[in-house]
Amino acid sequence: MIAQQTIQQILSRIDIIEIVGGFVKLKKRGANYLGLCPFHNEKSPSFTVSPAKEIYKCFGCGRSGNTISFLMELEKYSYAEALRWLAARYNVEVEEKELSPELRQQQQMAESLYIINAFGQKYFTNFLFETEEGQDIGLSYLKERGFNEDIIRKFQLGYSPDSRDTFSRAALAAQYNPEYLQKSGLVVLREEKLLDNYRGRIIFPVHNQTGKVIGFGARIIKTNDRAPKYINTPENEIYVKSKILYGSWLARQAIDKQDECLLVEGYTDVISLHQAGIENVVASGGTSLTIDQLRLIKKYTRHLTIIYDGDGAGIKAALRGLDMALEESLDVRLVLIPDKEDPDSYVRKLGAAAFREFIATNKKDFILFQLEVALKDAAGDTNKKAAVVNQVAETIARINKAEDFTRQQDYIRQSAEILHIEETGLHSLVNKHIRERIEKQENRAATQAAQAGEGTETAAAIPQDDESMNLLFRHEQNERGMIRDLLDYGLRSWNDETLVADYILSECQDLLDLIDNKRLLKILDLYKALYQQGLEPTSKNFLYHEDQELSTLAVSIMDLNYEISPNWKDHFEGKIFSPDELYREDVLSTVRYLKLRKIKRLMEENQKDWDKPHSAEDLKVLMQTHQHLKEIEMALLHDLGTVIVK
Ligand code: UTP
Ligand code: MN
Repeated sequence: MIAQQTIQQILSRIDIIEIVGGFVKLKKRGANYLGLCPFHNEKSPSFTVSPAKEIYKCFGCGRSGNTISFLMELEKYSYAEALRWLAARYNVEVEEKELSPELRQQQQMAESLYIINAFGQKYFTNFLFETEEGQDIGLSYLKERGFNEDIIRKFQLGYSPDSRDTFSRAALAAQYNPEYLQKSGLVVLREEKLLDNYRGRIIFPVHNQTGKVIGFGARIIKTNDRAPKYINTPENEIYVKSKILYGSWLARQAIDKQDECLLVEGYTDVISLHQAGIENVVASGGTSLTIDQLRLIKKYTRHLTIIYDGDGAGIKAALRGLDMALEESLDVRLVLIPDKEDPDSYVRKLGAAAFREFIATNKKDFILFQLEVALKDAAGDTNKKAAVVNQVAETIARINKAEDFTRQQDYIRQSAEILHIEETGLHSLVNKHIRERIEKQENRAATQAAQAGEGTETAAAIPQDDESMNLLFRHEQNERGMIRDLLDYGLRSWNDETLVADYILSECQDLLDLIDNKRLLKILDLYKALYQQGLEPTSKNFLYHEDQELSTLAVSIMDLNYEISPNWKDHFEGKIFSPDELYREDVLSTVRYLKLRKIKRLMEENQKDWDKPHSAEDLKVLMQTHQHLKEIEMALLHDLGTVIVK
């Protein structure tokens, strides 16, 4: 691990124009720089780099990020690799950090498992090729299925001897730790003896992105009703099913180059397609896609094509994960393989060229595909059709990122056409679902806050109309505004003695329960921790944070399109502020607005208490509280100017 000091040193040296400019030819255009986007093909430049904000954004493909994420994306570096690359570039000496005991133990366990898996893989491959049993049973089975030796070696396939403990004895003789051997799933403990877990099976090693073996799928050879078809590695430190995409280590480059990822169900599908020369393919292992798998795919491409057999249960499982894909801005297409074939058998039947052609001509947009299937299903039944309309609106509502706006509009138009309904009607239905989703999120956040014991307040009443909707958005903007103020002006002076950060952090203390976006809280906490250590946190600490989610959020807060609250100053009629004063006004407005929300919640709470039975004394207190809150509210409203609150 790289020491924090070194990271700080590297970050302070980063010059985004210099680094990105080394990969992309940049031309100065106003305050920013412009070039041809390295992430997609374009003829006229829409790739914009802001040296002031240290971020880039492509207005063509929508990719955005900072210097480190640029290197991670373009060069496929890990976070640490990108840092080391920058350290070398800027001649910064890298100091390594001591790991905590638990972390070190965990890492040791992982290391041991990698080593045992590597041993297992070699053992099984060797057994497949070099022993009589391996050749007669394993190799002949694979050859019969049409796999050639090159592809068997490329995927490091193997065969496990049909015996109680042949492998176990070999592993113990090679001095491997019995506890780790069990953890790897290669052996099991039965009556105090270590026995082989995979017996007489074809072994498919499963690799991580960098090609290390993390586990195995062991396929039965003879059909046997009682034994499972595959035995898989149990979850352990390195085998985490929800994060595995089988074949990704061999598919990375092809996916990147072709800007498309094919997804199939099984190990054998991946291998057959490779043998046919189609290499941009991974398998999910027959379960529904997880968010981690989708994010892994998104590292390489936004185009996901799912190839499943038409009648399989697999397709249903796969579809379950797809709403998440929309939220991740992935463009999902679907191809169904006909006639009880699967990709493995179909590519053999058609040959590589015809298979490619089949995929290209048959891929359907996932949303429109789902719509057509459902519509066919509803056939003339008005009630069912209404349900279909509602369902598609809900799905489209999940495409909810600013950069996907055009896509969403396209879907509304196309779906309305397929459904033969008014576009505007579908439009408002989609909006309704977006609204509901946001409300649900707000609700959940509020409940979480309440459960976390953040106070006795319950969630504010859920607004129902469009006007309240605008308010919701404004809340989110306001929350972000506070973080932005902190990042932008935190280290400027607030008054003679304190900095803006002091002011915001102390004022925020009572307002934390109003921050619904928990990820923003994370930034706030991190800022506070750094600041209290006497460090000087800047936007860089967040922009370049290892946690990608955090860094993405920071980028979005510092969005290129964003101009520093130019409209605030309109609210202070007549007064004109110098840029230096303006930031104070900006900070004040943000904090006041948060306070106003707090007051409103308290008043609602207070109001609820009126309805409960109470003594005259209690009533007096309630009224006084109300009076008091009202006064604070009026004062805040006065300070804010009336434009903010209707
Ligand atoms: P399939 O039954 O389609 O297997 O399951 P396959 O890989 O195509 O194998 P062949 O072609 O029949 O020999 C698809 C995937 O589901 C997982 C495996 O990852 C498999 O590749 N699976 C299936 C299991 O984990 N366990 C099972 O018992 C069955
Ligand atoms: Mn198959």
